[in-house]
Order: sequence, then structure tokens, then C-alpha cells
Amino acid sequence: MDIKELISKIPKAELHLHIEGTLEPELFFKLASRNGIEIPYSSVDELRNAYQFNCLQDFLDIYYQGTHVLINEEDFYDLTWEYLTKCKEQNIVHTEIMFDPQSHTERGIAFKTVIQGISKACQQAEKEYEISSFLIMSYLRHLSEKSAFEILELSKPFKHLIKAVGLDSSELGHPPSKFQRVFEASVAEGYIPLAHAGEEGPPDYIWQAIDVLKIKRIDHGNRCLEDEKLVQEIIRRDLALTVCPLSNTALQVVEDIKDHPLKKMLDLGLRVTINSDDPAYFGGQLMANFEAIIRALDLEQKEIIQLVKNSFQYSLLDDEVKSMKIADVENFIEQ
Ligand code: ADE
Ligand code: ZN
Repeated sequence: MDIKELISKIPKAELHLHIEGTLEPELFFKLASRNGIEIPYSSVDELRNAYQFNCLQDFLDIYYQGTHVLINEEDFYDLTWEYLTKCKEQNIVHTEIMFDPQSHTERGIAFKTVIQGISKACQQAEKEYEISSFLIMSYLRHLSEKSAFEILELSKPFKHLIKAVGLDSSELGHPPSKFQRVFEASVAEGYIPLAHAGEEGPPDYIWQAIDVLKIKRIDHGNRCLEDEKLVQEIIRRDLALTVCPLSNTALQVVEDIKDHPLKKMLDLGLRVTINSDDPAYFGGQLMANFEAIIRALDLEQKEIIQLVKNSFQYSLLDDEVKSMKIADVENFIEQ
């Protein structure tokens, strides 16, 4: 079996994925037409050509514009179902999906519309595809603490559908400490705390995320490498980094994929997983991320298998289920 076949067939999990970032240009046009929304692009190609980013903010401006075609429950359902169908094709058997409710409620869309559309697709995938999923409600860090508290309140009737809270959007200038109280309140509601940290922001933002927000997993975390003590602390606390190779090159967090620090992270003993972040915008699904990073860094089979096992080990699944999923990976390798 060659590497491409191995990474395609091996059962795996995805832990860092924004559902709004899976909106492909084709679906964008379809939903714009279905909802009678005027858009400033004349073709799928023209839209795709606009996907050139110098930094995170360049991307976010287009990403939030994309959300404007999502209006009705069926739009959120279609978006999520399309992603889960791609999971099935890639043998992703478990996925932890972030959604940005404020990007919708700020436009007058009801929280219920968003969560019901997404959840119905997840429930159908569990039945039809045998794919399990959790939802991560992410607060937008460029908005206020008050706005995050309002979303927390709106989420309460749907608590049974939400596993964790996250923190995303524009990182620089919006340190984790801004959200200390809303994270404390979220944990009190039973949500597991997670956050983006150290994508563009400095190591200090990662310290704050682990010490102040007490997060259980670090989204991105690339810049921890600038602080040796921080690296040792992340290892000591057994926190994983959800790394997103094609996102890092698309947003110029890493200049060239050949310079990606993933191998260095592994060699230091950091627990790392591979993820697609916003696949519609960054040039590929989870498989494409694996292929690109394996080729660029010449990763060994042993390292690839470790990355796949990590995707279950550092998921939010129960310990018993984790063990079963890791055993499935081991059985697959033996065959
Ligand atoms: N929202 C969607 N993708 C994101 C990313 N890579 N960083 C921060 N916020 C995001
Ligand atoms: Zn992300």
C-alpha cells in the first residue's frame, strides 16, 4: 500500500474544522440564488481567484462575507451534510466541528436555525455514515465579552447538542484574558474549553489560553516554538496542538510548506494532529493536508500513524471509545 492509499483508507478523526469554512464556491452560488441574495462575484472561478490572503484578517473578511448566504435551517443542513459526505469519502470516522454562531445571530439569524440545521446533518451522518461528531461553539474574539455572554445564554436550551466552546477570529489585539469570565461561565454550564492561540498571536496568548482559560487543547499553537518553557509546559500538561498545514501556508503563518514546523514539533515531543481548518478556502480537505505535509517534510510511516492515533487520543471522545478507535487503527495497520 502506498502512502496515499494508507492515508486515504486509515480511519481517522478531524479536530479543527470550521463548518463555515467548508462553504465551497459552488454551494455559495447555489445558496445565494436560492435565497435571492446579490453577490459581488460573477462566477465560481472569479470567487476562487479572490482567495489570496496575506494574513488571517484578509481571509476572515471573505469568510464572513461567505456566511451571508446562510439563512435558513436547510442551508446549514446542506453545508454540514456536504462536509460530512467528504468525511465519508476520506474515512474520517469522527469529527469535532466548530461553528461561529455570532457570525449568524449578528445578521438576524436565530441561534436555533443554525444549530438545528447543523445538528440534523450530524445526526443523519451518525446513522447513514457511522460518523460521530461533536459541536464546538466558538466565540468570536473581535467581538465583546458581552456579545459572547449573550451567545452563551442563547445556547443554553441546546446544551445537549454542544460539547465544547472555542475562541476564534482575529487573534492579534484580542488576548484570551478578554474572555476569562465567559469561559468560566461556559465551563460551569458543562462545556469543555478550547481556543485558537498562537496562530498569529505571541506565545503569551498561549500561556493565557492554558492558564487563564484553562483550555484542554490548543488550536494551531505554532508560536509556542518561540518559548522553550512553554513547549515543556504544554508537553507536561499533555495538551495537543491541532495543526493545519494548508491553512498555515494560505495565511502566511508559514512561508513555505517545506518550512513547516510540524516535524520539529513531533521531535520535541509535542502532541500534534493534522486538520483542514477551512478546507474550501485553503486548497484542500484533510487528505490534501496529510499529502502536502508528508511530501514536504518527508514524514515516515511511523510518524503518520502517530498523527492519526493522536487524532483519536486528543479528541473529546470518552476514554473507552478512544481506545476502541485506536484499536481500529492498529487493526487496519496489521492487515
Ligand atoms: N475562523 C475560521 N478560521 C480561522 C482561523 N484559521 N483562525 C482564526 N479564526 C478562524
Ligand atoms: Zn481554525
